[in-house]
Amino acid sequence: CLIRFGHLRCFPMTQHFDIFDSIPTHEAPPDGQLTDDMVAAFKAAGVIIVEGFVSPGDCDRLRKRAHELVDAFDPASVRSVFSTTRQTQLNDEYFYDSGDKIRFFFEDNAFDETGRLRQSKHESLNKMGHAMHDLDPVFDAFSRTPKLAAIVGSLGYKDPGIIQSMYIFKPPGIGGEVTCHQDSTFIYTEPESCVGFWFALEDATLENGCMQFIPGAHKMPLKKRNYKRRDGTYVIETLDDTPWPVDRLVPAEAKAGTLVIFDGRAPHLSAANRSDKSRHAYTLHVIEKLCHYPADNWLQRSAHLPLRGFD
Ligand code: FE2
Repeated sequence: CLIRFGHLRCFPMTQHFDIFDSIPTHEAPPDGQLTDDMVAAFKAAGVIIVEGFVSPGDCDRLRKRAHELVDAFDPASVRSVFSTTRQTQLNDEYFYDSGDKIRFFFEDNAFDETGRLRQSKHESLNKMGHAMHDLDPVFDAFSRTPKLAAIVGSLGYKDPGIIQSMYIFKPPGIGGEVTCHQDSTFIYTEPESCVGFWFALEDATLENGCMQFIPGAHKMPLKKRNYKRRDGTYVIETLDDTPWPVDRLVPAEAKAGTLVIFDGRAPHLSAANRSDKSRHAYTLHVIEKLCHYPADNWLQRSAHLPLRGFD
């Protein structure tokens, strides 16, 4: 058995977990405090959809601010691509060094054979990360509302820390596939405590590559640790190589303003965006500061930007 953030979590030799045909879906509670039923649904499925959490005004505000940050970014200054289908990150210090910065990562297909962007920089980026919530006042204010703090409290976190933020562009035509993974693979604590908050800033549909989950499968073991620091380099450590039960995938289609909360163990993926509509989203990952954060996690921050919660 593995003790996991206050609960005993046992891994049987055969992988048993409850099977869900849908993702538990609820209206956003006005004060952010999740009801006991919502917390129970989250614990059973490992994922919950909370509709109407973000106001249309806040969706617009974040999209506008992201646009301004991209406007100020010189695409000639960096050629870092984020891809989960190719291991481009393994030699990318620009990526590993981004835990306390705002950095920009391109889509795999953003460049032509001569190294030029095929389309505008705004339609070429995969994501921006990983400390907007600490460094940018607009994202900071959005990330630290009493409503969100109340949700995190209702999930049982005693001393939460917002370890990273990402703005996901999923641009039309070239938005890349994200292969099936667990976020605790990238954000590992002992015991595990990672939880993801994903805010739809535009409608996410199967057509433009919405997230898809295997509800209940968060009770499977952690399969990997990516990109673990070892001897001055980075490695992917495989902990369990049984295949994902991908026949159980359920789309998390989400209108703009929807919040999806998911356990760090919850397997999820998203298909490529071949449509003509972008799929912007903002995500936060929270850990319990009382848990140990290993020095060999790829994501680190320097002493000048200590890990903060919702204060
Ligand atoms: Fe993820």
